[in-house]
Amino acid sequence: MSASADVSVSEFSKDRPFPARLTENRMLNKPGSAKETRHFVVDLRGSGLRCKAGDSLGVFPTNRPEEVAELLQRLGATGDEPVAPAALKLAAPIALRVALTERLALAKPTRKFLETLAAKVTTGAEKEKLAALLAPEAKEALPAFLEEREFVDLLAEFPSARFTAAEFAEYLRKLMPRLYSIASSGTVYPEDVHLTVAVVRYATNGRERVGVCSTFLADRAQPGATPVPVFVSDSHFGPPEDRSKDCIMVGPGTGIAPFRAFMQERVATGATGRNWLFFGDQKRSTDFLYEEEWLDYQAKGQLARLDTAFSRDQAAKVYVQDRMREHGKELWAWLQGGAYFFVCGDAKRMAKDVDAALHQIAAEQGGLTPEQAADYVKQLKKDKRYQRDVY
Ligand SMILES: Cc1cc2nc3c(=O)[nH]c(=O)nc-3n(C[C@H](O)[C@H](O)[C@H](O)COP(=O)(O)OP(=O)(O)OC[C@H]3O[C@@H](n4cnc5c(N)ncnc54)[C@H](O)[C@@H]3O)c2cc1C
Ligand SMILES: NC(=O)c1ccc[n+]([C@@H]2O[C@H](COP(=O)([O-])OP(=O)(O)OC[C@H]3O[C@@H](n4cnc5c(N)ncnc54)[C@H](OP(=O)(O)O)[C@@H]3O)[C@@H](O)[C@H]2O)c1
Repeated sequence: MSASADVSVSEFSKDRPFPARLTENRMLNKPGSAKETRHFVVDLRGSGLRCKAGDSLGVFPTNRPEEVAELLQRLGATGDEPVAPAALKLAAPIALRVALTERLALAKPTRKFLETLAAKVTTGAEKEKLAALLAPEAKEALPAFLEEREFVDLLAEFPSARFTAAEFAEYLRKLMPRLYSIASSGTVYPEDVHLTVAVVRYATNGRERVGVCSTFLADRAQPGATPVPVFVSDSHFGPPEDRSKDCIMVGPGTGIAPFRAFMQERVATGATGRNWLFFGDQKRSTDFLYEEEWLDYQAKGQLARLDTAFSRDQAAKVYVQDRMREHGKELWAWLQGGAYFFVCGDAKRMAKDVDAALHQIAAEQGGLTPEQAADYVKQLKKDKRYQRDVY
């Protein structure tokens, strides 16, 4: 039976998540780092869930109790009010506090909510401010205004608007699960799943903000105590079935996560293909995630090549794609020999730049025109030898 068939035999899924136990929450960055990347271990015992290298874990978070308390206070609600917002398709109403804590997203307010506020506010100053925000001239400024605010900010800024609990709940969207690349091999750790998570904390509009799920795992899920509802998300991203094939893995920052699973899996199953890792982060002294493990694989010859790009260790930025170009000749030779090329991590900039570097290497090392290089990369994708897991 294949590993993915195993996943489907579990009674747990996205619609029926497994209440897992968090058993470890450990900081990966060393003191002095500007980053907060954490290693989590989630215990899947009793779930029947299985995962293969490349899969992700879906996690259903809860919102911060302080934010829920402030919302209730600003709404003048106790939290016991029954609500059944359409977005949740509930069979029976639930208490407002439960809906705000577990089921509804408190960020990203919409224009529609501002329009409702405009109809509800009773003071001249609030009416004027909302009219200006909703005016056609403000069309471009409005998304930025909304982006910097959560629902609670708008209730604070426009306190004369009154909502019943049920009415307010209708404006909120469903709280969605977040996916995390699994950083451990199911062969090596059949009962556990390891995650590598960048904890999101920042400030906008004079308030401290947090990412809902990354801080649920980091701050609110007490190891061993709070159930963490999870499911396994099957993926086509994964090491080659033919274990004699070489793997080139490009995973800066949390992009390293699935490659930790790939390496564990390939070593455990005696894969004979070579492994080459490109890793990057801010500083070698504080941000070399799982450094000892990579150095150990390298010392044992299981990791044939390790190229790192620490962007803030020198005046000019150095990124993984710079290392790829520096070693373009060898990278091309690996590809010509049938190697698979994997990329994981930031989708907005990194994955695009790595893709451009791959095209450039194909053109320069393969003597291809830009069009031929584009065709070459397209074919790699078609053959599943160029796979990406980017977010
Ligand atoms: C297939 C897949 C695999 C993934 N694997 C991993 C993984 O292995 N590790 C990992 O850490 N993440 C991973 N992610 C991302 C993860 O799913 C979440 O998106 C991430 O943890 C943020 O979720 P959150 O709930 O903490 O933040 P949210 O509450 O969703 O908030 C994030 C939002 O906050 C805003 N924001 C964030 N930073 C700032 C800032 N500095 N200034 C202004 N606004 C800001 C942005 O609007 C951003 O969209 C993966 C995603 C996918 C789709
Ligand atoms: N909005 C934010 O402020 C913020 C901050 C951190 C992470 N994030 C997001 O959180 C997620 C996880 O972050 P992460 O910890 O995994 O790592 P990350 O922030 O993506 O950074 C990992 C490494 O990649 C470098 N990098 C930046 N731009 C790059 C590019 N165009 N090409 C190649 N490398 C590049 C970074 O360098 P430099 O940072 O030195 O440029 C750093 O050395 C990502 O999706 C990221 O976008 C957002």
